[in-house]
Amino acid sequence: MTQLMIALDEAKLEEAQDVFRHTAADVLWYKVGYQAYYSFGNEILAELREARRNIFLDLKLHDIPNTVAGAIGSVVRSGASFVTVHAEGGRAMMQAAAQARDKINATGRSLKIVAVTLLTSISNDDLKETGVDKSVHEIVSIRAALAQDCGLDGVVCPVEAVPIVRARTSPEFTIICPGIRPAGVASGDQKRTATPAEAVLAGADFIVVGRPITKALDPRSAVQKICAELATAQAELSAPERS
Ligand code: C5P
Repeated sequence: MTQLMIALDEAKLEEAQDVFRHTAADVLWYKVGYQAYYSFGNEILAELREARRNIFLDLKLHDIPNTVAGAIGSVVRSGASFVTVHAEGGRAMMQAAAQARDKINATGRSLKIVAVTLLTSISNDDLKETGVDKSVHEIVSIRAALAQDCGLDGVVCPVEAVPIVRARTSPEFTIICPGIRPAGVASGDQKRTATPAEAVLAGADFIVVGRPITKALDPRSAVQKICAELATAQAELSAPERS
């Protein structure tokens, strides 16, 4: 089952609350990223916790191992179910993150750490310009395998990379896909977009959708259309093949 997460990338608390309150009837997962976390993190996280919604805290941690482990120890108070780190931080950093998670989970929590393989806004040209010779797909493949090897729980990657990730990781490894654009919605700064149905057919566990919902004239109706598209694709996937 592919589940929807809404990215609450809003400038003001009232705007994030507005999106949340208009969509909460149909949505269990919300992503809190930099913009919301740094300006009104405590308030929006408290509201999500109170409403018993699941929190994806997308802080994309990337620092020396000790600092990342310490940060995970601190953010656990947020009540997050998922926290992100950048796979670019390497083996020692991801292992430190996994150890910090294990320490937390030993107290009865069930925190998961997922690695961002590569931002979905990065193209092969962007990589070249920053001195990286490998392609987007090669990097996603290498980093997904490394993240699992380091004991992390999953990755964030574009839909087109899901088959590459599945080929190199075990079935329970969680795959979260941003860069989702229902047909007819502007792609903005996302370079590798896919529809909700394509995400289901590829085998994503979660899709992260921001602007197509938060900037829609009617966010609730945008959510319902996306959920309907997910359900139709899911039914297609589960239907026995016709001979
Ligand atoms: O508005 P939009 O649907 O493009 O939002 C996508 C969300 O997913 C943003 O919050 C962005 O930070 C996040 N994201 C991404 N690419 C990644 C990881 C997270 O776009 N690799």
